[in-house]
Amino acid sequence: MKSLNRFFSALLLSLAATSLFAQQKVTIPIETGRNALVLQTDKNNRLNIVYFGRKLTQPGEYASVPGQYRQDDGNAGIYASPYTPSGTVSLSEPAIRVTHADGNTSLELLYQSHEVQQLNDNVTQTIIRLKDPVYPVEVTLFYKVYRKENVVEQWSTIRHQEKAPIVMHKYASANLYFAAGQYHLTHYHGGWAREMNPETTQLKAGILSLDSKLGTRANLFQPPTFQLSFNKPATEDEGEVLLGTLGWSGNFKIDFEVDSYDNLRLIAGINPHASEYPLEPGKEFKTPSFLFTYSDKGKGEASRNLHDWARKYRVLEGEGSRLTLLNNWEATYFDFDETKLTGLFADGKKLGVDLFLLDDGWFGNKYPRNGDNAGLGDWKENAKKLPHGIGYLVKEAQKAGVKFGIWVEPEMVNPKSELYEKHPDWVIRQPERPEHYFRNQLVLDLSNPQVQDFVFGILDDLFTKNPDLAFIKWDCNAVIYNAQSEYLKKTKQAESKLYVDYVFGLYKVLDRLRAKYPKVPMMLCSGGGGRVDYEALKYFTEFWPSDNTDPLERVFLQWEYSYFFPAITHCDHVTDWGKQPLKFRTDVAMMGKMGYDIVVSHLSPDDLKFSQQSVETYKSISDVVWHGDLYRLVNPRENDFASLMFVNKQKTRSVVFNYLVSNRYGAGSKIPVKFGGLDPARKYSVKEINLYPGKRSAIASESVFTGDFLMTAGFNPVVNNGRTSVILELNEVK
Ligand code: DGJ
Repeated sequence: MKSLNRFFSALLLSLAATSLFAQQKVTIPIETGRNALVLQTDKNNRLNIVYFGRKLTQPGEYASVPGQYRQDDGNAGIYASPYTPSGTVSLSEPAIRVTHADGNTSLELLYQSHEVQQLNDNVTQTIIRLKDPVYPVEVTLFYKVYRKENVVEQWSTIRHQEKAPIVMHKYASANLYFAAGQYHLTHYHGGWAREMNPETTQLKAGILSLDSKLGTRANLFQPPTFQLSFNKPATEDEGEVLLGTLGWSGNFKIDFEVDSYDNLRLIAGINPHASEYPLEPGKEFKTPSFLFTYSDKGKGEASRNLHDWARKYRVLEGEGSRLTLLNNWEATYFDFDETKLTGLFADGKKLGVDLFLLDDGWFGNKYPRNGDNAGLGDWKENAKKLPHGIGYLVKEAQKAGVKFGIWVEPEMVNPKSELYEKHPDWVIRQPERPEHYFRNQLVLDLSNPQVQDFVFGILDDLFTKNPDLAFIKWDCNAVIYNAQSEYLKKTKQAESKLYVDYVFGLYKVLDRLRAKYPKVPMMLCSGGGGRVDYEALKYFTEFWPSDNTDPLERVFLQWEYSYFFPAITHCDHVTDWGKQPLKFRTDVAMMGKMGYDIVVSHLSPDDLKFSQQSVETYKSISDVVWHGDLYRLVNPRENDFASLMFVNKQKTRSVVFNYLVSNRYGAGSKIPVKFGGLDPARKYSVKEINLYPGKRSAIASESVFTGDFLMTAGFNPVVNNGRTSVILELNEVK
């Protein structure tokens, strides 16, 4: 009631402001707890971004900000648009470009009105309506502000009342404008098993675009996540930085344009490449969300804010818990049967994990899935491998004392499958051209409602027959080649809608699935981390960052992911990849959501004992890792070792992970590491945990220090080539 009243008074205020002073400048501050994005109309009633940064104590002073700039040579008011139209007076990169029903290609967007809705104590939504004065086209900008977390979620809706459809060539989610001396962009590139390599570059005049055109996933070569520092490159604890990302599981484009005033324009959204989208009169198109957080206290604070937001507002069960698991992929690949699997259930129990995850290879009869070249699409248990079906396995796992989860890749098909034989029209391909495969497979056409039903049906069937199914790994290993939809063609819809409707189709399936099965944990996997984004994470509890599980590589990879995604979301498994000892492999997996993908029966007695103890230890610290604040202390790209710590919200407990990443002579932690996030006035005991059986710690047991000492003078975890990974646990001592 209180918030409703607040909403109505805010609404009345803003409406009054709009009508009374229509000819005066309208200033719209969009404030988070610490920051502000301010928009203002100009004399032509165009809207501009006039301020971005730390919020002012007197909101009335925002109106005076533009007067402090001397950059108006006729382009101001065009560059700074919060949603740049195309075909009229703006000649810079647009946020929106359309062709009207009559073939005209001009668009102007003038301010109409705005309102502020108080959604709850922490969340407000500013809605701004823009309209073309000539054509009946409207764009509404939404800025949803999470005050405490300093996160802004931004999207737009487009609609019109023309006599026939208009065609949208570009329809961005966000258009921002920054005035700073320098812009340093950190973006990421890579490929399969080498995701998230950072590249930092100072943006100079011109446009730098990040994009992908893969169809089924955002990332493989580059993700829609970036860090943007203003004036100078931000460090963990210093400097102005914006962390941004697009919540869209398909093709994206983010443009960074330094304009002729040396200001920076940012335009982010669905990739317009081959995606002209017709819009019917009266229908509304809602763009995906662009999410960002800004901090003038460095990357650490920015990412902690993003993590808080993600756990509380976005990731499914973000504040909940996760299941530790044993996965059979690297242990068996496609080669298993019931006897082998029941043995693995017992191994899972022996290890102490919560769940056994059956991976690829359990289905296909006419074309058995004994390799990656056949059977995909035929979701019936292989009668030879699993004569008693999944139901039997669920029960056997339960008997052994573990839950049971299963792998699916429901959007894909092998040409060698019954599904392909039956429904070639469900497959994305150009029938007149040779087929081109990614991992021997093709992609099903999710723009087709029948295909959506089919994909939903695969999961629904599994859950209906096996209500105790406790986990799903949802894989997606192919990109879209030869993009063409038989369905769109047959139904006389624009074929250029395919890339966009594919992703909408996926979300429709996931919506239905979550309506019926709201909480079953699901891992988002895409032959690695190619599909993680904050729209998909509404439906998924976790993601698979990379097929590269070499722990040394993982230190770097998990470090980069950690800027954007909290530890509770990334599945980090102990496998046989790499040359590091089991302790190192385990300690690295522990800084995320831990799982195993090993042959337990091959472990030596000491390795088994260590692993059992690690699972226990992990369970005792996981609350801090999953829900605590992350401080990146020592960067592995600049040092011999990496160090990062999680501190619980009450500042009573902390876990510090340290990993040697150099094998040069004498490499290690020569000087103390300055901890973060503790209470300087409290005292903490420091002890090393997860020691390998028979090993003694080089650290005096349970020494007690003040938070002040640990953060100001620092503490040496004693990392060296005899102690390549070290985990410390801190507990408040009263
Ligand atoms: C790719 C995944 O990343 C792997 O973990 C595994 O599930 C395979 N697909 C199965 O085909």
